[in-house]
Amino acid sequence: MRIKLFWITGICFFALSAAGMNTVLAEEKLFIISNDDVFGTLKRSAVEFPHNLHMEVFAEEECGVCHHSYDETSGSLTYEAGDEISCKECHAMEKKGNIPALREAYHGSCTVCHRNTIKEKAGKSGPTTCGECHKKKGD
Ligand code: HEC
Ligand code: HEC
Ligand code: HEC
Ligand code: HEC
Repeated sequence: MRIKLFWITGICFFALSAAGMNTVLAEEKLFIISNDDVFGTLKRSAVEFPHNLHMEVFAEEECGVCHHSYDETSGSLTYEAGDEISCKECHAMEKKGNIPALREAYHGSCTVCHRNTIKEKAGKSGPTTCGECHKKKGD
């Protein structure tokens, strides 16, 4: 678990049931995504991710725009409430079969959505250049 939770409530995060966890999570301000256990020494800086802002923005589409599980029987991605786990549980350092590598999973989610939002002129969007997400110290 490499997401450092910046709110005091994060401390009880792990002790809670899935439902309770999500309630607590809704109040989290900011995640710092830094999977150095998978990537080894990071080439780029850790990435700030305002999870709660995204939850608000996607309140209607819901959590499944970013979170998925894999249904082996149908061979398709599904979403089940309460089953939001860390991306690295399935996405590894290297691509495996049809499962993209962890880095591509993040970029394919974060950057692609921000780009599409800009393209579709669908209101405010997020960063799309390397340095906006992987900030230099002092930025
Ligand atoms: C919208 C945000 C976003 C943008 C834009 C972005 N990245 Fe990332 N990138 C991430 C996230 C999130 C991770 C996972 C970070 C982690 O776990 O340390 C990541 C991981 C990485 C990693 C693997 C971890 C490491 O530091 O070794 C590299 C390398 C990387 N990005 C390079 C780039 C480059 C180069 C660009 C520009 C072409 C870029 N990224 C643009 C969000 C972004
Ligand atoms: C814009 C994308 C996005 C949306 C929308 C979103 N999440 Fe997340 N969520 C993430 C990312 C990215 C992580 C960090 C996962 C990681 O680092 O592997 C995360 C982490 C989590 C975690 C911690 C998982 C763990 O064990 O590490 C939970 C729980 C969670 N989200 C629940 C939710 C719920 C519930 C909703 C909807 C109300 C939601 N998320 C909406 C992207 C999103
Ligand atoms: C339970 C396992 C599992 C977890 C957890 C998981 N993924 Fe995936 N993901 C997969 C599998 C399997 C595929 C390939 C599906 C296919 O192509 O049939 C995939 C495909 C993807 C793709 C490419 C296809 C698409 O939907 O655009 C992206 C991007 C992606 N995952 C991002 C993420 C992110 C970001 C997270 C964490 C918030 C995450 N995944 C968590 C299993 C998982
Ligand atoms: C499904 C689409 C979607 C995904 C996936 C997504 N974002 Fe965003 N992001 C948005 C939108 C829309 C906004 C603009 C929200 C607003 O300000 O109203 C945004 C805004 C942001 C901002 C700017 C926040 C601010 O305070 O202005 C950051 C930073 C960001 N995203 C990082 C990320 C990272 C890192 C990931 C991947 C872990 C990610 N986003 C995944 C849609 C997405």
